[in-house]
Amino acid sequence: MKKTVLAMVSGLAIVLAGCGQSQATAPVAKKTAGPVTIVWTASPIAGLGVRKTLISLFEKSHPNIKVKLITAPTSTNTDKAALTTQISSGSATPDVYMGDVIWPAQFAHAHLALDLSHHLPSSFWSRFAPGLVQGASYKGQVYGAPFYMDSGFLYYRKDLLAKAHLPVPKTWAQLVSDSETLQKDGLVKYGFVWQGNTYEGLTCDWMEYMTDAGGTVLNAAGTKAAIDSPASLKALTFMRSLITSHVSPAAVTTFEEPQAMAVFDAGKSAFLRNWDYAWANSNSPTDSKVVGKVGVAPLPTFSASNYPGHSTIGGWNIYVNPHSQHIPQDLTFIKWITGTQAQTVLATKFSEIPTNYAVQKNPAVRKVNPVLATVSHVRLVARPSNTPIYPKVSQAIYSNINAALNGSVSPSVALKTTQTQINQAISQNGL
Ligand code: GLC
Repeated sequence: MKKTVLAMVSGLAIVLAGCGQSQATAPVAKKTAGPVTIVWTASPIAGLGVRKTLISLFEKSHPNIKVKLITAPTSTNTDKAALTTQISSGSATPDVYMGDVIWPAQFAHAHLALDLSHHLPSSFWSRFAPGLVQGASYKGQVYGAPFYMDSGFLYYRKDLLAKAHLPVPKTWAQLVSDSETLQKDGLVKYGFVWQGNTYEGLTCDWMEYMTDAGGTVLNAAGTKAAIDSPASLKALTFMRSLITSHVSPAAVTTFEEPQAMAVFDAGKSAFLRNWDYAWANSNSPTDSKVVGKVGVAPLPTFSASNYPGHSTIGGWNIYVNPHSQHIPQDLTFIKWITGTQAQTVLATKFSEIPTNYAVQKNPAVRKVNPVLATVSHVRLVARPSNTPIYPKVSQAIYSNINAALNGSVSPSVALKTTQTQINQAISQNGL
């Protein structure tokens, strides 16, 4: 209660100061001695203690700021729902939060994120790898500071492939045939695990197959759905066949990143589609039974001449709650976490792709992060998230694709429904 009153008083002081009232007459909040605590909501990333490592390094170099960590749900959808409720209710916490790269348009539109372009100089933004700041922008303003980048990869069991004298698959057909051989020989239970649950992660996986097959979600002008195409049908028919051929377990339609990674790390699957941090996880003795047995490659393609396949661009930004009472401290935290020390730790200890360009290009960092070496060879594809209606577009994709994967509707019906739902969302809300 006391805290709320103090926050209100200091908030009032700021408002009054902003109205031009002299400092002498404005009520001034009593300065509290000691460090200021900011609250950071962040999902567990790789689940390997990344956040705590970063916080302790930050606090060491910034004795006047403490960071209180609140763990967010691992699913980006659930995470977004919780933050939306909290921030739209006017809550001053969290001060800063980790948020998906697909959120800037929605969060800017709904006033859930502070416009950082007015708080951080252009010299700050030049530290990031090309394209990232634009990805964090909406209508010319920047709403998030790029924290790390994700990209989809194929993880494979190099020991099993060597034992069976099989190549690392470059095509989806090869992945299926490698899997079937390894399964038949009793070397592994499942061939391939990935993200098939009805949530954002399935949209990411979908983008990779669909783009590789030559399809797109929207038409070239970006004004109408184009997802109901022969290319999409090829992609979805193939995804469903992974399940009917038992290369992927039926339960893959309920898997998100942690479940897929757990099956692979337990040694039960030959191949895994996951983001960069899965490298660190699969090599963590406390989390994995396959330490030292894993290789990483770009995702396969439908036609060998197109290799490598496509990888969806993912990643997370740091956003500031517009109601935060600690904006100077929030900005200090953002500058540090996107700076050399934090970004080097992320890349070298947790196999993340750093957003800080100098760190990303540093040969010493690349040497110890095989994922970073692979990412320069993949073809990246972005989700069409630069519109506040993206959640509706993505939901149309993941719910219908999931229904087809489950076998409850045919691939062609699923694609027709997706097309209709995306067009409805566009005509109801505009883009
Ligand atoms: C990863 C990506 C994020 C994506 C999510 C889907 O966290 O970084 O961009 O939306 O996976 O599950």
